[in-house]
Amino acid sequence: MAISLQSRLPRTYRIVEVKQETEMVRTYTFDGSLGAKPGQCLMVWLPGVDEVPMSVAYDDGARTKITFFAVGDMTNELARRGVGDLVGLRGPFGTFYEWSPGQHIVLVAGGYGAAPMYFVAKETVQHGCTLEVIVGARGKEHLLYVEELESLPHVSLHVATNDGSAGYKGFNTDILEKLLSSCPRDSKNAKSKQCSPIDQVFACGPELMLKRVSEITAAHGVPSQLSMERYMKCGYGLCGNCVVDPLGIRMCIEGPVVKNDVCVKIEEFGKYHRDDVGRKKEFGK
Ligand SMILES: Cc1cc2nc3c(=O)[nH]c(=O)nc-3n(C[C@H](O)[C@H](O)[C@H](O)COP(=O)(O)OP(=O)(O)OC[C@H]3O[C@@H](n4cnc5c(N)ncnc54)[C@H](O)[C@@H]3O)c2cc1C
Ligand code: FES
Repeated sequence: MAISLQSRLPRTYRIVEVKQETEMVRTYTFDGSLGAKPGQCLMVWLPGVDEVPMSVAYDDGARTKITFFAVGDMTNELARRGVGDLVGLRGPFGTFYEWSPGQHIVLVAGGYGAAPMYFVAKETVQHGCTLEVIVGARGKEHLLYVEELESLPHVSLHVATNDGSAGYKGFNTDILEKLLSSCPRDSKNAKSKQCSPIDQVFACGPELMLKRVSEITAAHGVPSQLSMERYMKCGYGLCGNCVVDPLGIRMCIEGPVVKNDVCVKIEEFGKYHRDDVGRKKEFGK
């Protein structure tokens, strides 16, 4: 897919709204649309600081939102911006989640993954889909987008926290396993419509969570689409920084949303990623 020159070059957008979601997480609303679809990402640029990729938290054709953790030089500097300030954005880049009208879909969100999952939820319910949304976090104070998701029609919300301070105590993937086991696609109950089998699963969050989603959905024979993040520089397929072993596909073009039948062929998936100069970094270390 050709990416237009206009999408490759940054344009400045003004912040029109700031929401402090948690101590370290902020959502900015910008005064324009980049025409992004759920799952796509943008490059966010602060001149003289850095440019980093961020998922689109929402784009309604008039305004664009991002939700970010202040974790390092760029994102801490970004967190110092406020209403009226200008930020450079370019994109949208990459693949997006795909569904058919009326499907029963499970969304699995960890960390800031709740933001793009909210974007997916808003769009899919408009297409008659029914959703099970599983939001996970370390503790209650780190949960994101819970109120927004609860306010949507046709959404059943499931919350998991590691410390048990809200919802189920444990991983969001434990809930996924239970949901897929309770109504297997080929069971008699599903055929007699006593339960509604899950058509597919979408996930966005830490890679070890994605790996578990990949394993669970493969074991249950349910298709899934997973958002895989790799270090990005150009964002449009030129630099090769975001390629994955051994397929050599670029996560800014053939990702970030990757179907599980491709994910299972990516040997580094759930094991390692590469930094800005291509050095391997193992997950969980
Ligand atoms: C497709 C994609 C979508 C993302 N969506 C979001 C989001 O919605 N919200 C959010 O808070 N974060 C998101 N991130 C992560 C975000 O890009 C990093 O948190 C950010 O780059 C940190 O930059 P820093 O300078 O503040 O921190 P640093 O201290 O420089 O980096 C902290 C960590 O961020 C990662 N990182 C740094 N620069 C890049 C880069 N250019 N490309 C990829 N990873 C990088 C590295 O793993 C690094 O160890 C996304 C990353 C990708 C690849
Ligand atoms: S970020 Fe340059 S090829 Fe993907």
